[in-house]
Amino acid sequence: MSHQAIYRKFRPKTFDDVLGQEHVTRTLKNQIMTDNIAHAYLFSGIRGTGKTSTAKIFSRAVNCLNNHDGNPCNECEICKSILNETNMDVIEMDAASNNGVEDIRELRDKVKFLPVKSRYKVYIIDEVHMLSKGAFNALLKTLEEPPEHLLFILATTEPQKIPATILSRCQRFDLKRIKSDVIVENMKSICKEIGIEYDEKALSLIAANSEGAMRDAQSILDRCISFNEDKIDYETVINLLGTVNYQVVLEAANYMVDKDIKSTMVLVDDILNRGKEILSFLDELIVCFRNMLIIKTTGLTDNIIRMSEEEAEDLKKLSNRVSVDEIVEFIEDLSSAQLECKRALNPRVLLEAKLIKMLNKVENINIDSLVNRIEELENRIKNGNTATVIKTKSSAGRHVVAETRKRSATSENVSSPENFEIKKQDTSEKFVKEKQFENKSDEAIYNAIINNWQAILKKVRSENAGLQAIIRESRLHEVKNKKAVFEFDPKFTFHINAANQPKNKVKFKEVLSGILNEECEVEFTIKKDEKPIKTKHTIEDIYEDVVREFGEEIVEFKQED
Ligand SMILES: Nc1ncnc2c1ncn2[C@@H]1O[C@H](COP(=O)(O)OP(=O)(O)O)[C@@H](O)[C@H]1O
Ligand SMILES: [Mg+2]
Ligand SMILES: [Zn+2]
Repeated sequence: MSHQAIYRKFRPKTFDDVLGQEHVTRTLKNQIMTDNIAHAYLFSGIRGTGKTSTAKIFSRAVNCLNNHDGNPCNECEICKSILNETNMDVIEMDAASNNGVEDIRELRDKVKFLPVKSRYKVYIIDEVHMLSKGAFNALLKTLEEPPEHLLFILATTEPQKIPATILSRCQRFDLKRIKSDVIVENMKSICKEIGIEYDEKALSLIAANSEGAMRDAQSILDRCISFNEDKIDYETVINLLGTVNYQVVLEAANYMVDKDIKSTMVLVDDILNRGKEILSFLDELIVCFRNMLIIKTTGLTDNIIRMSEEEAEDLKKLSNRVSVDEIVEFIEDLSSAQLECKRALNPRVLLEAKLIKMLNKVENINIDSLVNRIEELENRIKNGNTATVIKTKSSAGRHVVAETRKRSATSENVSSPENFEIKKQDTSEKFVKEKQFENKSDEAIYNAIINNWQAILKKVRSENAGLQAIIRESRLHEVKNKKAVFEFDPKFTFHINAANQPKNKVKFKEVLSGILNEECEVEFTIKKDEKPIKTKHTIEDIYEDVVREFGEEIVEFKQED
């Protein structure tokens, strides 16, 4: 069966055959039944949703001698003549090819004549946005004073390109994208009628690739049939669309959740080399994360997620490994990447850069917290020429090496330079788990606040910019019994009062405790005298701290000579 055959054979013949556009067809049928017909109509909507079909049906319905509830009978002499294109009173024009002033002038001259045998003379102008400016003006003249017998039906995919003067003279109907299940049902009945077997999954995949345009779905179906005449199956659809197999998208999502840049890039390279379009790959990835989000937040796996049970099960497993926030972030980042790729001269490079940035972003948080902890440890190692090297290898197989060196020699307790090498196999999990920094000492809290001060201010600003403006004038004075005391210069009385308001204190405490992973009270006072905290450490203390932070099995302690 050829493409044209399905397309022709299944063009809707009555309003009731136009699927998914009931909001339009109901009104049109009503107008016909109550004989309340306007002179100009505009049907807009994306391609393949039924604009031209509805226009043709309407042209018969207004002239039919034997109307059924507003539908054309398609049997009477008039209906038949319109269907076989021998009726001179129904004129179809494609504005894409007849877009000049001359064409419309000619039309204007002709509209004066009464219809030959029908009630209405109907002009269907398809893709009307293609008319030239002059042609629009000429058309406008006719629309301003239309003769009784005249009916214009305009159709367009781009209504925004139509002058307001024309729009205001038309009754406008927007045809919607057609829902997947409606498209699937339509394909099923087509398959039954032409006697071909099908796989439900295959039809769902076709519908998912048609973007709500029935015509697209039908033409994919057509190509599948010529590809494999026995049956429409999933593999055929995948081969034909050059579409990424769902499993491959899932694999990509898995690597992304793991922040595995290397595997993601290798897979993307493979997908694109196989001829997959960047934009549709991104689209599928976005849909995948969207489905993950729905499954994670609602537990629903049917209906709003059009996929097989096994696929939903896979997604569910994956969604357990990632937070809602992270999924949302992926969706946002992928969507903006998609927009930018559309405009990019080299979308592939942009895609790769965006993916790396995306996967690095989350990794950065780990690096940051790692660095903070290194600094915290470092503070305890108050000794000269001490080098702390912390190597981590994430599950993704990348290495993060943070190296810091102390230059000053201040402490009296540790005599020789130390070298700690800490190897860690999988940091990511541990970092997530280690929310409870059990009983940090006051000194550790003090150091953590000092080391994270910019991050704390940034977080406060994101929650309450006014509060940040106040707090940034304060200085940490001391930490005692897990209470952090902040001082203001005496000139900042307003700030002290504002900072001490209970709701501000609560907010600040919340931020602080969140960043430090430690419940910590706060207080604001006026500056009196300076009293920095100084505590001494022996090398054993430091060793204990390091082991506590990273675990005995991964810490190797070497004394250099
Ligand atoms: N709403 C619909 N219901 C049923 N079939 C449709 C619908 N929209 C489009 N089709 C199918 O797609 C084909 C092209 O539709 P058409 O009306 O020309 O779309 P448009 O003018 O919006 O691009 C039709 O012949 C029909 O087979
Ligand atoms: Mg059309
Ligand atoms: Zn009829």
